[in-house]
Amino acid sequence: MNILILGSGGREYSIGLAISKEKQEHNIFFMPGNGATSDLGTNINIKDYNKLALWAKENNIELTIVGPEAPLVDGVVDIFKENNLTVFGPSSAAAQLEGSKVYMKNILKKYNIPTAAFIETTNEKEAYDFIDNMTVPIVVKADGLCAGKGVIIAQSKDEAKQAASDMLSGSSFGEAGTSIVVEEFLDGYELSIFAICDGENYKVLPAAQDHKRVGNGDTGPNTGGMGAYAPTPLVNDDIYKKVEERVIKPTLDGMKKEGAPFEGVLFIGVMVVNNEPIILEYNVRFGDPECEILMPLLETPVSELFYKGATKQLDKLEIKIKDEFGVAVVMASANYPYSSSEPAEIIVDEIVDEDILNNTHISYAGVSKEDGKLFATGGRVLLCVGFGNSIKEARDRAYALCGQVHFAGKKIRTDIAYQALK
Ligand code: AMP
Ligand code: GLY
Repeated sequence: MNILILGSGGREYSIGLAISKEKQEHNIFFMPGNGATSDLGTNINIKDYNKLALWAKENNIELTIVGPEAPLVDGVVDIFKENNLTVFGPSSAAAQLEGSKVYMKNILKKYNIPTAAFIETTNEKEAYDFIDNMTVPIVVKADGLCAGKGVIIAQSKDEAKQAASDMLSGSSFGEAGTSIVVEEFLDGYELSIFAICDGENYKVLPAAQDHKRVGNGDTGPNTGGMGAYAPTPLVNDDIYKKVEERVIKPTLDGMKKEGAPFEGVLFIGVMVVNNEPIILEYNVRFGDPECEILMPLLETPVSELFYKGATKQLDKLEIKIKDEFGVAVVMASANYPYSSSEPAEIIVDEIVDEDILNNTHISYAGVSKEDGKLFATGGRVLLCVGFGNSIKEARDRAYALCGQVHFAGKKIRTDIAYQALK
């Protein structure tokens, strides 16, 4: 097939890598891709979605996969569908599940899906009154997309009120914060659960755990994610069953009733409290770094899974997952997540150990290529991904690979998957 992948991160690289390893040969295009995706296919640069759809028609693109949330919220899927192209991802209406926390919370409430008690408001006094009746910590969330920064966990009522006022006045997140959600704090452990959906049918992937804070032991500021592993032993059949019955099915039914059937990746941010899965949030795309371990764990060809997802045929697919564990360690640049860093050349040692060679790979994210050399260009640069028959084996291999990859200022967490190994 001719396949187009939208996005430029490690997530999109890992989707391309998995497709490039399939038995069937494919031509892969990335828009815009990164300095390493050009080794898996062809990078193109057409930012306007209407022009991109025309290009896709002219170039007989048979499947388009959208990685990040912004183009989904902006309606790229709607534009591709108007052009009779096959595209895997939600419409802009369905992408409101991520684009607006107020919309998401109201869907959860309307369809009785377990979530933290909340109010949504645009009014400071209403927020203050609700906060006065809560116990701390108190969670305050900006409605719109804030690049992962729109959630404040306040340790006092004053701090919660300050966060609410700063958001409502527009001073902290502009328009994205002029509507807010204030909700109770959930104390438990977090899971990332992904359902591949075609509007009616769905397939659930093995549950993963992300590591959002920059420092070991979950310290320091939030990042896009510093590492992930799957499947996590913290989830059991009972939790999967509850997530399917109480969350996925009512959400798919509900979105159909809303006139916005959900097609694409439903990323369910779950907090498990006393063995009960409570929904923190929905995203409408793969998590990054979760995608980088889930793609290689799939035995089912990724292109087939997404094609069937895009053409309402998931009921005809039996999904197969490898009987292995995966651990991904993010290697970020020195100043991440505060500021950008100077470009630095990436050197990967020749890997002679067969065990490492056969059970690891690199997923490239923030990289550029010049004169055949790869440079770290800041943010999350790459991920060292390891596989094994246990989480420990997978983790040890991922860290062994980390030792073979060098660039100035490289920064990693050394405790990825600790929750599963304590
Ligand atoms: P969100 O963008 O809604 O996923 O929030 C970002 C992170 O904040 C989540 O991954 C959680 O770690 C944390 N968080 C969000 N809402 C809550 C909550 N109600 N209780 C506890 N932690 C939360
Ligand atoms: N890893 C979390 C996210 O992609 O939002």
